[in-house]
Amino acid sequence: MQAKDAKRKVILTGDRPTGKLHLGHYVGSLRRRVQLQDSGEFDEINILIADDQALTDNWENPAKIRDNIIEVTLDYLSVGIDPDRSTICIQSAIPALHALTFYYMNLVTTQRLSRNPTVKAEMKLRGFTGNDSENDNEAGLPAGFFTYPVSQAADITAFKATVVPVGEDQMPMLEQTREIVRRFNQTYRCDVLVEPDIMLPENEVQRRLPGIDGGAKMSKSLGNCIYLSDDAQTVKKKVMSMFTDPEHINISDPGHVEGNMVFTYLDAFSKTEQFAEYLPEYSCLDEMKEHYRKGGLGDVKCKKFLIKVMEEMLSPIRTARAGWESRISDVYDILREGSRKAAETGERTLAEVCAAMRINYFDDRSIIKDWDTWVHGNHGA
Ligand code: TRP
Repeated sequence: MQAKDAKRKVILTGDRPTGKLHLGHYVGSLRRRVQLQDSGEFDEINILIADDQALTDNWENPAKIRDNIIEVTLDYLSVGIDPDRSTICIQSAIPALHALTFYYMNLVTTQRLSRNPTVKAEMKLRGFTGNDSENDNEAGLPAGFFTYPVSQAADITAFKATVVPVGEDQMPMLEQTREIVRRFNQTYRCDVLVEPDIMLPENEVQRRLPGIDGGAKMSKSLGNCIYLSDDAQTVKKKVMSMFTDPEHINISDPGHVEGNMVFTYLDAFSKTEQFAEYLPEYSCLDEMKEHYRKGGLGDVKCKKFLIKVMEEMLSPIRTARAGWESRISDVYDILREGSRKAAETGERTLAEVCAAMRINYFDDRSIIKDWDTWVHGNHGA
């Protein structure tokens, strides 16, 4: 039983429900998750909608988090996450995570937490300076936010995840989790917790898809996204407005494909077969790039091809989304069932954690017996 358990391949990954998902999420993680799911190589796949974590920097706006739980779930389902093979669950519906977080807090120092580079970067972004200010409202560092890496360690260990597919920005969270696992198992002389491995994106585009404006990263706050839920008209408009090569003014001018979003997106999304279908004068992307570099190939033509490529990818997602939107109560049931299952898993791990710490006072008879002896020892003499 123990040995079999040790070999189980368990995935946990997740997102903060702070907005609808866009193409950056799609190439960076969603497409991968579907592949991992379809590979059949894993014994268990869990996808956590991290609403509690999202609240650590959105506590004044729970409605935003609430609304986006459904948006994100619709995005998952419409790209092909299959609830029969992957468990989609809501963090706040898994009570054991809170208990685990509290015990893990003892195994982490505030000094260690303040060295977390991702937390540091986010602090800057949010204006949490961490200065010891007289005025709490001014620049204080919320304790919930500061300790969210510990709660993420609870997420990962509750499921005994062996593989966590995430972006590079999550490396510090995984490192922190591994430290907590080692410290827990050492301190309580057990092997209850499992050290997870990180699974990073495979290539540059997966790591970071630039925005349609050519900005470093597609991101909601920069307003340069194509959303999975955008309709065909919107996608078309966005592609037509894409940043290309400012030096490519006349069609006959030589053009640059590097830093040109149309080509960056074609690199990420186009397939060679699509040339025969939509742009038969080129046999492949390299040939098309060659022509653009030399001069004589206009942006509009390139963009029209990209629109076809995008539509081939996005239109099935859109259709699936519309299907799920029309049966939103099924989506609700999927979330409830996934969360119920995950809560059970969490409860099992928490029970093992409490047993390892010997704080499971009411279900370990030997602890009760020790008490008996102690009581009788004092009164019976
Ligand atoms: N921190 C992750 C993010 O911002 C979300 C997350 C929460 C997560 N818990 C997790 C990711 C557990 C992987 C595993 O995207």
